[in-house]
This record gives sequence, structure tokens and C-alpha cells, in this order.
Amino acid sequence: DVPTPLSATGRTDGPSKTVRAQDGAFLTSAQGARLPDTDHSLKAGPRGPVLLQDHHLREKVMHFDHERIPERVVHARGAAAHGVFRGYGTTAEVCKAAFLAKDVDTPVFVRFSTVLGSRGSADTVRDTRGFATKFYTSEGVFDLVGNNIPVFFIQDAIKFPDIIHAGKPHPDREIPQAQSAHDTFWDFVSLHTEATHHTLWNMSDRGIPRSFRTMEGFGVHTFRLVSATGATTLVKFHWKPKAGVHSLVWEEAQMISGMDPDFHRRDLADAIEAGAHPQWELGIQTFPDTPEQTFQGIDLLDPTKIVPEELAPVQPVGLLTLNANPTNFFAETEQVAFHVGHLVPGIDITDDALLAGRLFSYLDTQITRLGGPNFPQIPINRPHAAVNDMLRDGFHQDAVHTGVAPYKPNSLDGGCPFFAGAGDHAYIEHPTPIAAAAKVREASASFDDHFSQARLFWLSMSPAEREHIIAAYTFELGKCYERAIKERTLLVLANIDPYLCRQVAQGLGLPTPEASQPLTEAQPSPALSQVSRTWPTA
Ligand code: HEM
Repeated sequence: DVPTPLSATGRTDGPSKTVRAQDGAFLTSAQGARLPDTDHSLKAGPRGPVLLQDHHLREKVMHFDHERIPERVVHARGAAAHGVFRGYGTTAEVCKAAFLAKDVDTPVFVRFSTVLGSRGSADTVRDTRGFATKFYTSEGVFDLVGNNIPVFFIQDAIKFPDIIHAGKPHPDREIPQAQSAHDTFWDFVSLHTEATHHTLWNMSDRGIPRSFRTMEGFGVHTFRLVSATGATTLVKFHWKPKAGVHSLVWEEAQMISGMDPDFHRRDLADAIEAGAHPQWELGIQTFPDTPEQTFQGIDLLDPTKIVPEELAPVQPVGLLTLNANPTNFFAETEQVAFHVGHLVPGIDITDDALLAGRLFSYLDTQITRLGGPNFPQIPINRPHAAVNDMLRDGFHQDAVHTGVAPYKPNSLDGGCPFFAGAGDHAYIEHPTPIAAAAKVREASASFDDHFSQARLFWLSMSPAEREHIIAAYTFELGKCYERAIKERTLLVLANIDPYLCRQVAQGLGLPTPEASQPLTEAQPSPALSQVSRTWPTA
């Protein structure tokens, strides 16, 4: 029962089948020749020297020398699981994507991650968490590459290298391995105040989740849904954990970092192995696709802003269940390649400037990380839908293509079958107005409000949650060496809330500055919380 890897696309053997490397009863070379000995090099006499003609020695050591690939430039540390997504069929009016239809089961692979630490760093550091889902749909792969925090530090991808350089360990000593407690991070976020909202979420209990199983997930950007009739709706994606949202407290997080740095990945694997399969509901907030792309005054193209769930309720559209651990960490968790541009018919992008940069960055980095342009052929990345592309050759080409005409138009290989039929194509551009008559680098004025939603978040916190936030800022800033950075951050806090600022200033032993901007009118109302305390059952 030899599989047929030599197919025209190289992908028809499906994602679960891998190259056969563990067949037969005997140890062999990579070429299948049976080996007599793997413990001793071939030598000229028992005391050497070792002979270069020992092919097994050279092959074994050569392969070992190349076992490592570059870790991800961000989100290097992660853990993943297989599962299934079942659509509820509640999106029929707004989205034609087949995997969202009622009772359609779609295989998925989900990778959770921290952002800033290296592959070997601890799980329970204070940081944002990645929540990336690959749906192997019947219409191609759809990736929802989100985080456990609904907003981002920056509004434009051109600032991504800046925020990551500031957040990564200092270049001289490579300390620290976590987001917390260093001058470069606080230097940047206090100067670049559009980071305020995300940073406040990081300093809240959301920055130290108890488990991957108890995290929310967010697509962050506004995407565009397309219905069967071609009507469009703007959308934000949410994952709601069935187990509820739970965090650690800081003392727990620190102790666990020392005692069990693998705490989160162990928890995920153990739960799945024990049959306690974690579940999340996928939900959507929908907004009319107007030329302004705003909703009740909130700019939907600004990824530093949320739309409170009280203004646009999250509607459940399907259920995710993680039910199997990866067989091999490297083959699956390390080699999986997510991309915000992996879209299916019915889901499209918007003009969010952060999203645009991501569309470039993931493909680009994966060419280096995964050794050339053929990483979609790696088993974990293979679509379950049929593939028929004109991409040819390149490093690690596993497909043995047939035919002579990988170009269009052609009259030799059956003409142009790709373009037959109508309706179910992905990547259809939707006519949206382009406002500027000239090229500009500035964003619209609505992007200048950096504090009102941070204040909304702060005011929505319970007293205990506020104390945790105060303690987190005090701890983190207390580790900074530069007094000017602490003072500048206090000014940022003054623009969020005077009590927050005063408490942190007292903790640091510094004077309390006055707000430089008028505080927004938001009332301390738990009802207007972005953290929905209730979740409708499906
Ligand atoms: C990786 C989320 C913004 C570049 C990731 C991963 C997640 C993620 C979850 C890990 C994927 C995995 O598990 O393999 C986000 C979110 C963003 C954001 C939610 C903002 C809303 C950006 C931006 C850029 C960027 C603006 C660049 C301009 C990257 C790169 C990787 C990555 C290069 C590594 C990908 C790989 O090696 O496969 N991001 N990210 N991200 N992100 Fe982002």
C-alpha cells in the first residue's frame, strides 16, 4: 500500500500522510540501504583515524547539523492541537463561505503562542498570546491569525519592526526574555501612544492567562464578508472559550515560570489526552459596509479600537473543538505556516493598514523560515481542497508536475479550466471608494485618539482587576532604569485615569503628573464593557 506522492500536484496524499521514513524492520540509510552498525564510525584500526568513506557517519552527522530551522521572528514559542470546527449555519445571510454552513465539519489546526520570547522561553510570562487557526475547508485554506487581545499596539504595519525591536530582549545582553520589565519596551510605548490601549490590556489579567483553554481570541482587524448575492458586511471575529476566561495572578505566574516553564503547553496536551477537549465558539460582530467604514463613531480600520459588545453583540457562528495532539512537534507545530491572506470565498480583507503589511510579511518570512517557496506542500500546510496552480520548481519541490504548459493562456494542456464557472471564487475585489486624490502617509484624524478606549477598558474593570493593573504597572516600571521613561509613562497613565496614575506614581515614589489631554466622558459603567460578562448560548 505505497502512497502515491508522485502526483501531478504532489498533494493528493492528504495532510495526514507523511513521507515514509519509518517503514521496515531494520535501520537503514536515508536511501533505504540496511545498516550494519550505528554506534561506531569506520576507522583504520581500532584507534583510528576515522575514514571519510563512512557514508552512514557523514549522513547521520550532516543531517543532525541541519535539524534546526530559524524560529519565528515573533510568536516563536507555541503549542498546537488538531480539532474540528462545526458551523451553525447562522451566517447564511451575510457570508457564503461553505465551512460556516449548518453542521459542516471542517478539520482545523490551532497554534497558541507568546509573542516575544524565544522558542525555549517560559509560558506564563506577561505578554500577548497568539491564537492562530487553520481551517482546511472544502474551498481552500482559511487562516484566522488572531491574538487573545482585541487591539494592537500599532495602526500601521510599517511600525511593526519598531514595536518588536522595542519589545524583544535588549540587543546587548538579550535580557529579558519576556515582554515585561525593560526600558526599551516602555520607552517605545510611552513615546508611541497609540500603543496605550494594547499595553493596558497586557497589564491587566489578560496578559497572564491561566490556560490556553481559557483565553478569548480575536481577529483584531475588521474583515469583509460576502454573501451569495454579492452583498458585503464588515465583520470582527471573536473566539469565546466554553470554559470561560481565567487568568493567573502575578505571583502564580512568576512561580510557575520557575517551576514549570511548559505550564501552558502541558495543560493543553494533558487536557486533550484526558478527553477534556477544549472548545470555543466562533462569533462575529457585524457592521454595515458603508463608505466611511465606521460604526457609531468608531473607526473600523483602526486596529487599536474595539467595538464594545453592547453596541454590536457577538453572534455565535460555529463551535471549535480541539481533540487531538500533534504527533510530531516539529512537523506540525513548528512547520505550520499561517497567513492572513489565506482566504476563502465569502471572506475578504479591508483597507486596514496593519492588515496590508501582514499580507506581505507572513509569506515573506516563511520563505526564509521554511526554506523556499514550497512550504504549502508541507503536510500540515496542505489544503484539503484540490490544488491546481501554475507554481513550479523551487527548493523542496515535492510535486512531480505533468504537462508542458504552466502558463495562461495555453492551447496545450487543456486551455483555461481555472476560470470556468462563476460564483465561488476567492479574492474578488469589492469596489470601495478611495478617498485621497494624492498619495499620503498620514492616517485619518480618527486614528489620533489614543486614550478614550483605554479609559473605557480601565473603567470597565472591577476593583480587584484595577488593583492588579496598578500592581502590574508598578512592578514593570519599577524594573526600568531610566527615570525619564517612568515619568513619561505616568503621563500616559494620567491621560487614561487620574487614580491609576496616582497609585502607580506612589508605588514608584514619583510625583503624579497632570493629564495633558481632557479625559473622555465615558462613565465608569461595567455595562459598557468590552469584556462581555455574558455569552449567549448557541
Ligand atoms: C506571527 C498575530 C501583526 C508579522 C504571528 C502569529 C500570530 C500573529 C498569532 C503566530 C502564528 C503561528 O502560530 O505560527 C498577529 C496579530 C497582529 C499581528 C493578531 C495584529 C493584529 C503583525 C504585523 C506583522 C506581523 C503588523 C508585520 C508587519 C508576523 C510574522 C510572524 C507573525 C513575521 C511569524 C510568522 C511565521 O514565521 O510563520 N502573528 N500579528 N504580525 N506575525 Fe503577526
